[in-house]
Amino acid sequence: MKESAFGRPLRIGIIGSGHRGGTYINELTKIPEEAVITAVCDTSMERMNLLAERYKLAEAKKLTSLDEMLSGDLVDAVIITVPDSFHRWAAEKSFAAGKDVMLEKPLAPTAADCRAILKAHRKSGKLMQVGFVLRNANFYLKVKEILDGGTLGQIMFMHAAEYLGVQHGTSFMTRWHRKKKNAGTFLLAKCSHDLDILNWLTGSKPEAVSSFGGTDFFVPGRGGAKYCSDCSRAGTCPYKVSSEYYFIKDEKIAPRSDLCAFNDDKDVIDNQVVILQYANKIRATFELQLFHQKGTRRITVGGQNGYLDGDFEENRITVKYNNGRKDEIVEIKSADESGHGGGDLAFTRSFLEAIRTRKTSGAGAEAGLAANVIADAIERSRLKMKTVRINQKEYKI
Ligand SMILES: NC(=O)c1ccc[n+]([C@@H]2O[C@H](COP(=O)([O-])OP(=O)(O)OC[C@H]3O[C@@H](n4cnc5c(N)ncnc54)[C@H](O)[C@@H]3O)[C@@H](O)[C@H]2O)c1
Repeated sequence: MKESAFGRPLRIGIIGSGHRGGTYINELTKIPEEAVITAVCDTSMERMNLLAERYKLAEAKKLTSLDEMLSGDLVDAVIITVPDSFHRWAAEKSFAAGKDVMLEKPLAPTAADCRAILKAHRKSGKLMQVGFVLRNANFYLKVKEILDGGTLGQIMFMHAAEYLGVQHGTSFMTRWHRKKKNAGTFLLAKCSHDLDILNWLTGSKPEAVSSFGGTDFFVPGRGGAKYCSDCSRAGTCPYKVSSEYYFIKDEKIAPRSDLCAFNDDKDVIDNQVVILQYANKIRATFELQLFHQKGTRRITVGGQNGYLDGDFEENRITVKYNNGRKDEIVEIKSADESGHGGGDLAFTRSFLEAIRTRKTSGAGAEAGLAANVIADAIERSRLKMKTVRINQKEYKI
């Protein structure tokens, strides 16, 4: 067991035993000497049973009441993995109960909810870490190391892209994320990761943004029947959601798990481009699409002495110089097999470390709020087809 003010493995509660809750349970069960899952809370007993069986959580209490999980000493800290529109509810209750909190990204769908979470956090004096796990992936740590090393000289521009493979993209068009009221804009729900990476790498925050985007691929009319189980094309359709993403139906917010991805019951985009000017005058672009052949993230960073170009799935970064310095090809080794290029386990460990040392090394409240402020400005720009300026005061927590 690690040296700890607790003198024992940390007792962790998982709030939301869906896709992402399962990921954290999986990571925590790899390190039993550091943490033990003492409780899981979900509205669906079926989901809790499934995860408890899959990860052999014989001793964890399965609770449908969050108040019951938070009362007393059952948990030292919680990991919140409920849908985004429930983040505020779960975070406020957890802070009020005096628990340290890992809150999945994005902080919340609306600025008002973000501010309320930040208020509850400040009042509690407890820790909050936001689920920007890409910062813990060796790929992005290497990009940051190269930039901080200074060989590229002053950084002038960045280009980032997130391409979702067909199955991944399809899942967002059919689950709760397909409605802004559940998750905010798609750019916030999914790409707050990428906005955070750009902020982290530039060491700055945008002062102006411009964006275009829309729903042009998953349009009604390109699909078959409303539900896959009623569709004659379902047998060969590449856009049928796999059970990996949607393993049990969620009666409350998505009554059927086989809604066609080309449904007319969604209000999020499936492709978007963004231009950002940072306060330190680094200029960046970001590109998103949900119907890519393989699915990856890409990043290019240009400096006065050359540029780097990286593909997250290939785990390779190429660095080319214009000043005679030898070019480099860096093959990244993920720290382990966990998701997000090894970021998931490293991030989980960093949260446990933060609880022990009372110091968060990962992204906190400020990073969470910044992603919301930027995504909101981007959406206003997209809707009005105008450049939107962001006052730096908006980033203050
Ligand atoms: N950091 C990352 O890379 C990453 C990746 C995927 C998802 N996420 C985030 O994780 C969160 C969960 O996403 P998911 O894909 O696991 O969703 P999901 O639908 O698979 O799981 C959500 C779970 O929450 C439960 N739930 C819903 N309302 C509840 C309530 N009021 N009380 C208790 N339980 C409730 C549902 O029954 C379900 O089991 C979201 O905030 C999402 O944005 C982050």
